[in-house]
Amino acid sequence: MPNKVYIATSIDGFIAKKNGDINWLMDIPNPEGSDFGFNEFMNSVDAIVMGRLTYEQVLKFSEWPYNKPVFVLSSALKSVPEFLNGKVNIIKGNPKSIIEKLNSMKYSNLYIDGGKTVQEFLKEDLIDELIITRISILLGDGIPLFSKLINDQKYEHLATEIFNNTLVKSHYKRIRNK
Ligand SMILES: NC(=O)c1ccc[n+]([C@@H]2O[C@H](COP(=O)([O-])OP(=O)(O)OC[C@H]3O[C@@H](n4cnc5c(N)ncnc54)[C@H](OP(=O)(O)O)[C@@H]3O)[C@@H](O)[C@H]2O)c1
Repeated sequence: MPNKVYIATSIDGFIAKKNGDINWLMDIPNPEGSDFGFNEFMNSVDAIVMGRLTYEQVLKFSEWPYNKPVFVLSSALKSVPEFLNGKVNIIKGNPKSIIEKLNSMKYSNLYIDGGKTVQEFLKEDLIDELIITRISILLGDGIPLFSKLINDQKYEHLATEIFNNTLVKSHYKRIRNK
C-alpha cells in the first residue's frame, strides 16, 4: 500500500483513441519541457503494474522510459525482448493476489497503469490514490478510464494544479471507512 494511478484523460474521459493512439497526448504544448511532476511521482513508487496493451504502446517509444521494475499483466505474453530482461516481468492473476505477491517482494508503493487494468483494480477497490490529468481536448470516443463499480468510492481531493491552460492535474486519496 498505497496503489496509485497516474494517468491522463481527455475532457470526456478517454485515455487513448479506440486504436490505442495517444498522439493527442504527446502533442500538448510544453514550451518549458516540463514533466508536469511525473518524475516526482515515479520517485514515490517502487514498481509499476501495467496492462499488456499499455506495455505494447510503451515499447514503441524511442527508449524505455522507466527506471523502476515493471510487471506486465498478461495471459498471452511469454517473454520480453532481451534489452528488457531484468527490467520487465510478466505476471498474471487476480488484482488482489498480484498486489499481495508484489508486496511480499517488498514493492509496497505500486503504480497501476492501463485502462482495463485500472478498471479491474478499481472494481476490487484496490486503488488508494488517483492522480488524473485532464487534457483540454474532446475525443468523442476511445478507451475509457472508468467503468462500472460495485459500490460508490469516496475520495478526498488533495490538490489540483493547472499547466499551460491545457492540463488540469488533480490528486485524490481514497477515504476508507475503518
Ligand atoms: N492516457 C494515458 O495516460 C494512458 C496511460 C496508460 C495507457 N494508455 C493507453 O491505453 C491503452 C491501453 O489500455 P487498455 O485498456 O486497452 O489495456 P491495458 O489495461 O493496458 O491492457 C489490458 C491487457 O492487460 C492484460 N491483463 C489485465 N489484467 C490482467 C490480469 N489480471 N491477468 C492477466 N492479464 C491481465 C490482458 O492482456 P492479455 O490479453 O495478454 O491477457 C489485457 O488484455 C493504450 O493505448 C495506452 O497507450 C494511456
